[in-house]
Amino acid sequence: MPMLEVDQLVVRYGPLEAVRGISFAVEPGEIVALIGSNGAGKSSTLKALMGLVDIASGSIRMQGTLLNAQASASRVSRGLALSPEGRRLFGRMTVLDNLLVGAHTVRGRSDIQDSLKEIYALFPRVYERRDQLAGSLSGGEQQMVAIGRALMARPTLLMLDEPSLGIAPKIVAEIAAAIERLNQQAGMSIILVEQNARLALKLSHQAYALEHGEIVRTGNGAELLADPFVRKAYLGV
Ligand SMILES: Nc1ncnc2c1ncn2[C@@H]1O[C@H](COP(=O)(O)OP(=O)(O)OP(=O)(O)O)[C@@H](O)[C@H]1O
Ligand SMILES: [Mg+2]
Repeated sequence: MPMLEVDQLVVRYGPLEAVRGISFAVEPGEIVALIGSNGAGKSSTLKALMGLVDIASGSIRMQGTLLNAQASASRVSRGLALSPEGRRLFGRMTVLDNLLVGAHTVRGRSDIQDSLKEIYALFPRVYERRDQLAGSLSGGEQQMVAIGRALMARPTLLMLDEPSLGIAPKIVAEIAAAIERLNQQAGMSIILVEQNARLALKLSHQAYALEHGEIVRTGNGAELLADPFVRKAYLGV
């Protein structure tokens, strides 16, 4: 059974149809990339999956259970977590306190301690800076904290919205390595939204290109990297 199944999903903002009936699935242990340019509907899709925007029609199922009417918190309890575009950290709180915000649905203290240990192992820079104010970190370090905060919910399906945006190449490589480790070592399913199509296609098993709220190309990462349309539209070659 797919980890996540999205069928004919539509998201509207007033008269604007931002997502126009897209369908896709995420299998257990898979990295799925959603690529596309500004305004394609990538973030709207993730927000709809997380329950942060209403869906106009269609269905979202996680391991067979319909999520359409479920509140975000209960989706988190079912294993979904989102690291949002633009990171959305609390700049005047410490790194540790920002991480703990992500654990509000987690009950046991030992679970919280285990998650912190895993995040610190994944991102040693986050451990080094745990007592610093989040606002004093570099953009790349803040991105690591935002991913860590999502991991605090102990997700089975992690959604990352533009983790490489505005970040120095060296740190992008560290974040890419962390995404691969989460997938390969922990078996985590991941939806990776990126404007950096080259990066996303390299990391992903399955990929979808979105344009104006519609899926215009599907294939595995290697297929889309070789696709003339994708190369011209998203890779600039
Ligand atoms: N809250 C909102 N109210 C009205 N329109 C919105 C809202 N959020 C997004 N939109 C519009 O919906 C469309 C899709 O936006 P969305 O943020 O999903 O795109 P995106 O693919 O994530 O783009 P980007 O790469 O710039 O982040 C855009 O035309 C955008 O202007
Ligand atoms: Mg976006």
